[in-house]
Amino acid sequence: MRILVTGGAGYIGSHTTLALLEAGHDVTVLDNLANSSEESLRRVQELSGRSLDFIKADLLDEQALEAAFAQSRPEAVIHFAGLKAVGESVAKPLYYYTNNVVGTLNLLQCMDRHDVRTIVFSSSATVYGASEQVPLTEDMPMDAVNPYGRTKEQIEDILSDLGTADPRWRVALLRYFNPVGAHESGRIGEDPTGVPNNLLPFVAQVAVGRREKVMVFGNDYSTPDGTGVRDYIHVVDLAAGHLAALDYVSGQAGVYRWNLGTGNGSSVLEVLAAFSKAAGREVPYEFTDRRPGDAAVSYADATAAQRDLGWSAKHSLDDMCRDHWRWQEQNPQGYAGA
Ligand code: NAD
Ligand code: UFG
Repeated sequence: MRILVTGGAGYIGSHTTLALLEAGHDVTVLDNLANSSEESLRRVQELSGRSLDFIKADLLDEQALEAAFAQSRPEAVIHFAGLKAVGESVAKPLYYYTNNVVGTLNLLQCMDRHDVRTIVFSSSATVYGASEQVPLTEDMPMDAVNPYGRTKEQIEDILSDLGTADPRWRVALLRYFNPVGAHESGRIGEDPTGVPNNLLPFVAQVAVGRREKVMVFGNDYSTPDGTGVRDYIHVVDLAAGHLAALDYVSGQAGVYRWNLGTGNGSSVLEVLAAFSKAAGREVPYEFTDRRPGDAAVSYADATAAQRDLGWSAKHSLDDMCRDHWRWQEQNPQGYAGA
């Protein structure tokens, strides 16, 4: 199949693009490189032994989008492009709503004009908001607690309305839990700009000596060791979930929601222990106050994806830490060191 991957130069997009090429699909990546580097795509091509087309364009540029569709003539779209930093979204809501929501509207209008109505969208467990009820199931109400999360919620609503209005649409809304890890080659991985917001990239930068210690946000939650519990999922498993979802909606029109998680929670201290083991060195840490807006516990009910897609996560927390560390150790400055 000819697939347009928006945001394909980014962390999850690059791993999914690799999996698509390996499965024999033809891929065009459209990315404005706002939070990524073309080096990831060079490495994806090196790993797969196949070439892809890259179009540097912004979803807000309707003419460029039109030209990209005319040039690549996709049969389906996997839509990763978006901004994802929660704190930044609170400080710059207009920037987030414009980039994520207006960018997606431009994309959907262009798809409609070109008779392309198959889309796999990167949603997030963030749409469940601060729900303390676990495991989280797809039928729970959406209740995002920050502008970033609300962009995901709004895009889900838009796609759902579109599916109701026009039954030709084939829509997969994938709610990722906490993507971590890297391709086992160590050639591609997560390359955050500035101070990482998320736990794993922060831990990895401490382990490699770029930062002094991890600040653990709260040790007084009602969890077994007092620290926050999350459903970490290996990015390679996540990539496989996209191929399974694409397959499903290719065979069946409609709008579908799936959690992509392992169904298991790990605490911050468990992650630190697993990462220390993987890296063969202690990762120094210190407890500090809770981070506002953080839930104590979040993990998926992953049975719907298993039932419908025949997909389940294969990698353990140790695998995630081993692969994340291999990427970090081989690329201490990320792609900038290339
Ligand atoms: P990423 O920042 O590495 O990738 C996103 C890509 O989109 C980047 O390459 C960026 O340059 C591009 N982009 C952003 N705005 C664009 C625009 N207007 N036009 C063209 N390209 C644009 O992030 P990621 O971790 O790979 O996340 C991919 C998607 O998954 C995002 O939509 C994100 O919100 C969602 N998601 C991520 C996580 C996570 O923890 N990583 C969790 C849940 C959902
Ligand atoms: N944490 C720390 N120290 C840090 C960073 C995080 O203790 O330096 C803790 C958090 O308090 C939380 C856990 O580690 O308990 C995981 O935090 P992350 O920031 O890595 O992930 P979150 O679950 O808070 O949020 C992430 C993304 C959201 C997304 C959500 C679900 O940032 O955008 O996963 O996909 F919505």
